[in-house]
Amino acid sequence: MIIISLGNSDKLAKSLALKLKAKYSKLLIDKFPDGDIYLKYMVNVKNETVILVHSFQPNPNQSLINLVFAAETARDLGAKKVILVAPYLAFMRQDKRFNPGEAVSSKIMAKWLGSCVNKIITIDTHLHRFRTLDKLFSIPAVNLSANKLIAACVKKFNHPFLMGPDWESSQWARRIANQIGADSAILEKTRHHARKVTVRLTEKANFKNRNIVIIDDIISTGHTVIEAAKLAKRLGAKSVTAIAVHGIFTEQAYEKLKKAGINKIVTANTILHRSNNLDVSSLLAEELRN
Ligand code: R5P
Repeated sequence: MIIISLGNSDKLAKSLALKLKAKYSKLLIDKFPDGDIYLKYMVNVKNETVILVHSFQPNPNQSLINLVFAAETARDLGAKKVILVAPYLAFMRQDKRFNPGEAVSSKIMAKWLGSCVNKIITIDTHLHRFRTLDKLFSIPAVNLSANKLIAACVKKFNHPFLMGPDWESSQWARRIANQIGADSAILEKTRHHARKVTVRLTEKANFKNRNIVIIDDIISTGHTVIEAAKLAKRLGAKSVTAIAVHGIFTEQAYEKLKKAGINKIVTANTILHRSNNLDVSSLLAEELRN
């Protein structure tokens, strides 16, 4: 087994290689003068199981091209098997044609990857219209959950009150609250457009003087978490923490969250960021050992 890193998850890939006692190598990816991709394996992958480790953030579009080239080249060089470990899998949110003429990105991504890798492993991927990965991929595809790591982190808070900013987040917020016996509330979210959301509290909950922990899968522009935090504060919360599996933090979202008075921001290392405090390497190593 050889762990090959494509650039976005070097640290995670190295730690995986250590845990699995596997060889580690970084893929050389460059450009020809005209901009065409240049890619080279620095180790012999013939007859090996090649594990490509790469988060789709930053640069999701380029990441897809790099991964297709990497997987096809591994096969061309005689690799026995190619497994993709994508701690954060992009394109999953455009899972239907919302407006006439739009691309259904998740289906295209799945078709491309399915044609060149043998298996895909990801973490808490965004499943909405496609409820499970086997509805999308024709190859074995595993969706791991970081819930155990989040639960261990939340347990350290003093009498936490878990908040899910929308119904989809209940698979993290409510489930973890039930596991650890904490209070929880799931908000109702309306997304007006990519940069505007509103949230409403539709169930009975008393946030007064409580340490609120907002849990979601993704923080992208940050608007979802900011609106949830504003509501918690309006209703008397003592502190607000935001935990997300994937911290994309586009358009200065991290700074905006800090400015909105969120006391602590925690993410998993599925996307490299200074808020990374949940290490998914053991989860991935366990899956790869199977
Ligand atoms: C959406 O359903 C997701 O679970 C997140 O709530 C969403 O992706 C967050 O996006 P943003 O940070 O841009 O509000």
